[in-house]
Amino acid sequence: MTYVVTDNCIACKYTDCVEVCPVDCFYEGTNMLVIHPDECIDCGVCEPECPADAIRPDTEPGMEQWVTFNREYSEKWPVIITQKDPLPDAEARDGETDKLEKYFKPEPGTGG
Ligand code: SF4
Ligand code: F3S
Repeated sequence: MTYVVTDNCIACKYTDCVEVCPVDCFYEGTNMLVIHPDECIDCGVCEPECPADAIRPDTEPGMEQWVTFNREYSEKWPVIITQKDPLPDAEARDGETDKLEKYFKPEPGTGG
């Protein structure tokens, strides 16, 4: 089992989640984070920290695509262990539909 970051992180990127992860398994893209599914120890402490409710356990229905997505990008993006300011439009974008199609950027973030 693992936890994964899902589409409501996109264009929000609050980053509250990274401060609580005991194994530092969050990775940063330009406008979202992902979790490395092989490094996550399923502790669950990050899930309630996300203001956008974007972190889900892979036991929920429909999560297979997000496990694949999190694995793919965690191998391409730098690790992030320090909280940063949310993206400027975070509040406005929180809860929008089709964020993957509308806003996702595959380029790496700066990490740190
Ligand atoms: Fe890190 Fe625990 Fe969240 Fe996995 S469930 S990403 S180990 S805080
Ligand atoms: Fe994203 Fe939520 Fe973390 S919006 S950066 S998963 S706190």
